[in-house]
Amino acid sequence: MRHGGSRLSRPTPVATVAGMPDSGTPRFFADLISWYALEALAFGDALGLRSALLQGPGTSAEIALRADADPRTTATWLAAMVAAGYAKHDTGVFRVDPDQVAFLDGSFPAVDTLALLDFVRAMGARVPAVLDVLRSGSAPDHDLFGAEFGEAVGRVNAPLYAGALVTDWLAADDEVTARLEAGTTVVDLGCGSGAATRVMAEAFPTSTFIGVDRDAAALDRARRTAPGNVSFATAPPASYQVVTILDSFHHFADPDAVLAQIRAALPPGGVMVIAESSYEGDIDVDTADPFSVIGLASALLYCDVEARSPSGTNQIAPQDGGVALRRALAAAGFSTITTHEGTGGYRVYFAR
Ligand SMILES: C[S@@+](CC[C@H](N)C(=O)[O-])C[C@H]1O[C@@H](n2cnc3c(N)ncnc32)[C@H](O)[C@@H]1O
Repeated sequence: MRHGGSRLSRPTPVATVAGMPDSGTPRFFADLISWYALEALAFGDALGLRSALLQGPGTSAEIALRADADPRTTATWLAAMVAAGYAKHDTGVFRVDPDQVAFLDGSFPAVDTLALLDFVRAMGARVPAVLDVLRSGSAPDHDLFGAEFGEAVGRVNAPLYAGALVTDWLAADDEVTARLEAGTTVVDLGCGSGAATRVMAEAFPTSTFIGVDRDAAALDRARRTAPGNVSFATAPPASYQVVTILDSFHHFADPDAVLAQIRAALPPGGVMVIAESSYEGDIDVDTADPFSVIGLASALLYCDVEARSPSGTNQIAPQDGGVALRRALAAAGFSTITTHEGTGGYRVYFAR
């Protein structure tokens, strides 16, 4: 999730965006319209209305019946969806706008849009707790964001990992791929719900994978669908040959300590693979991409909050283009660093 740190990957722009306010709408109101539209979509999703509308054209009463939802709520929701451009209306019959189907049925390939609706709802629920942390300057509890939020985050990047992690990101380093094919021990640090761990384990059945995360609830979810060559734990083993840190490094509250532990655990020739959002490090260049708003706001609300610790916030954020990360890697004894600009807006570091 390019959330600035963990950020939403940039989906391929669609040529025509039905329902978007035209360019004459003042910025503030265009944003307000978009916020309300997405909130309404997420709300209707939770009430079963999104699925009911996707079943096919229908009157408001029919769609309410399909969703087992209140008729007035359904009518209001359908009108809001027409106003937002997600639905079409013709003489009392509603249908999904054909241009919007992929976003509403979850088939959009680059990112799990339905997970994003869960994310929007879960983030809304966490705002008071996040504000408490930011105002008090305290370090967050490990479970500040909660299971619903963690579950949504775990799904957002799953399509990207399925499509690009093995064939593009890891394939950029022949030696890493050869090791994984031959069979090795891999720690996926900050694995969350294990989407990436699972993709790697299925692609490299002769290797052994250990997904590690401090979030025990996320690990429980990960275990449910894990192939046989994967296990999960809240702490890494004493040694391993390869470590992946995918969209997680900027979340670590004590990154230098993590790097020191990894350096001690990797044998000579061991390799660390870190994927972080591929900012240029130039605010003017980076913010020219409208999707950067998603990444930066997510960093503010989520990544930067997780990165706080009693001894100070992790200052190694990807927005500097990787300068601080490279410095930290060198200080931890990683002398050879190569990078690959990976699909989905991530920069992949191979550190040895
Ligand atoms: C944005 S999520 C990424 C999860 C997963 N790699 C993915 O891309 O779907 C960041 C993860 O880092 C984990 N995390 C944060 N600090 C950690 C630490 N010190 N040790 C292990 N995991 C940590 C969080 O619990 C969270 O699951």
